[in-house]
Amino acid sequence: GGGGDDAGSGNSGGDDKITLGFSQVGAESGWRTANTKSIQESAASAGIDLKFSDAQGKQENQISAIRNFITQKVDVIAFSPVVTSGWDAVLKEAKDAGIPVILTDRAVDSQDTSLYETFIGSDFVEEGKKAGDWLVKEYEGKTDKVNVVELQGTTGSAPAIDRQKGFAEAIKANPNITIVKSQTGDFKRADGKTVMETFLQSTPDIDVLYAHNDDMGLGAIEAIEAAGKKPGTDIKIITVDAVKDGMTALADGKINFIVECSPLLGPQLMDLAKKAAAGETLEKRVLTEETTFTQEQAKTELPNRKY
Ligand code: AHR
Repeated sequence: GGGGDDAGSGNSGGDDKITLGFSQVGAESGWRTANTKSIQESAASAGIDLKFSDAQGKQENQISAIRNFITQKVDVIAFSPVVTSGWDAVLKEAKDAGIPVILTDRAVDSQDTSLYETFIGSDFVEEGKKAGDWLVKEYEGKTDKVNVVELQGTTGSAPAIDRQKGFAEAIKANPNITIVKSQTGDFKRADGKTVMETFLQSTPDIDVLYAHNDDMGLGAIEAIEAAGKKPGTDIKIITVDAVKDGMTALADGKINFIVECSPLLGPQLMDLAKKAAAGETLEKRVLTEETTFTQEQAKTELPNRKY
């Protein structure tokens, strides 16, 4: 193993510092920026030596970052997998090197769960359900057709797969509510805007937009306004994350409902990294607690929003 054998023994000096290699997805959204900040700040205050690597949205970059961490003999590896599949080989290499791996924020689809110690993050299916439940309630008792367009997150990523699944489950008992268009906006504001432009051109009667994150919703708002329509009124908007920009649009009436996804995973991740470095067995799944926000709730919460 690495230098973590005597970690936590209380010795002074830098030698027994835990080294954590972290491979981040990229900087695609406000959520991601807040997540990176949380991880960097928590590592500093936990006295953990963080080797941070930004994959710029590419799985191959994450795989080579993880291989570098293995070569460098870090004590613990954590990463937020850009997509769910294709990790078995590199995870096996980490396991063979005796380096514990912590999945952060996003899951992998590996059948062999011994390839990682734990998975910390949100329940994305639940988030999708909360979004769909709100919509069903909003149109309760009405039988008119409700046309929903969906802006999906990064293709093949856990949050895109699960948020679609949870939402579809929640609305399925209501045949009048249908998803008429669904396309990826890669969790990015600019892509949310351009995809919404094409939705607006091809589909004249959009009632609702379900965007898998705030940023895509915010980009779509620009497209909706440019088309002469009123976001939040002519087209109802549901998003996920609840970052400050999203909460501001919610309080302003341009978004109707936000499902929270907390990016503040840093403190818990550092605790888990210390335990993993000390050879402790970790709980296999650590869930993040989160809520939802209506427009009224956003007005109250906004002044306290840190990210
Ligand atoms: O994996 C979490 C998702 O990734 C966030 O909801 C989204 O904003 C980010 O890009």
